[in-house]
Amino acid sequence: MSTSTAIYYFSATGNSLAVALELAQKLDVGEPISIPGSLLLDDPYKAAREADRVGFVFPVHRATLPEMVLGFIEMMPKRKDCYYFAVSTYTVFGCNEFWDIEEVLELDGCFLNFAVGVKTMGNVGIVNPDSKSMTKKIKSISKQIDEIVDAINNYQENNFRRSSKLLGYLVKKFTSIRRKSIVFNVDKRCKKCGICAQVCPANNIVFGEDGDPAPMRSDKCQACYACLHWCPANAIGTRRKIHTHYHHPNIKPEQLNPANPTNPVQSEAVDKTAKSA
Ligand SMILES: Cc1cc2nc3c(=O)[nH]c(=O)nc-3n(C[C@H](O)[C@H](O)[C@H](O)COP(=O)(O)O)c2cc1C
Ligand code: SF4
Ligand code: SF4
Repeated sequence: MSTSTAIYYFSATGNSLAVALELAQKLDVGEPISIPGSLLLDDPYKAAREADRVGFVFPVHRATLPEMVLGFIEMMPKRKDCYYFAVSTYTVFGCNEFWDIEEVLELDGCFLNFAVGVKTMGNVGIVNPDSKSMTKKIKSISKQIDEIVDAINNYQENNFRRSSKLLGYLVKKFTSIRRKSIVFNVDKRCKKCGICAQVCPANNIVFGEDGDPAPMRSDKCQACYACLHWCPANAIGTRRKIHTHYHHPNIKPEQLNPANPTNPVQSEAVDKTAKSA
């Protein structure tokens, strides 16, 4: 029996993308697909409609999954004969992410067949991980990915953790308020390089006439901190005074959201299309 597998990912600082890439490679399936990138396409769900197995890889944000990922799954056409799996990456603990996905799938009579959390190095710590501990962590994640690959290849089902309804409700309320109230500022160290706009999954960074970028306070902002973490000049801050700056050592910013119009990978694709037209 031939199977096709679609792996969708959301990643702010590259941990989830690194997991998605390794998972896709070890499962011997096509490249993982960016969720923010897919949302910019005419048909964001083409791969999901054609696949027998559909997976999602994403970070835990404030004890659940990023709103954009949940929204993507909500709108996705679902099939009862499809095997659904999810892999979250987290620093301390996950919580509601799988339960929230399951709730959405259940509305269409489907369910989350397999789900697992991968403990990664963090983008929320008070110190950055050193390179030795990163290498160790990447190795242990790799071993866990081997187990996940085995499970998916065997269409394994599991009982992933569930939290309480009340906790889920409180987390959702807090997440939504926090996401909409975040305020970023850009200081004079800014080199106007555009990386923040390139990595933003929500196209939420606009450049003023003076060329200065401004992450907007808006409904679109996922409060994922990708802009802050990837800024090479550490020029982006919030009202909180101290921020560490982290991104996965093996991921480059242009790999994150290939369909973003400010992304060089996308610009190249547009150039090629224009030339061949
Ligand atoms: C806004 C935000 C909220 C987070 N909330 C949690 C959390 O509730 N629990 C946790 O263990 N890690 C949390 N993290 C850490 C990330 O889940 C973790 O570093 C993840 O691997 C990042 O994935 P990415 O590099 O693909 O974005 C949070 C990170 C950010 C930026
Ligand atoms: S990534 Fe940093 S330096 Fe580059 S444009 Fe954005 S704020 Fe400026
Ligand atoms: S503006 Fe920054 S925090 Fe908001 S979605 Fe874009 S990258 Fe994430």
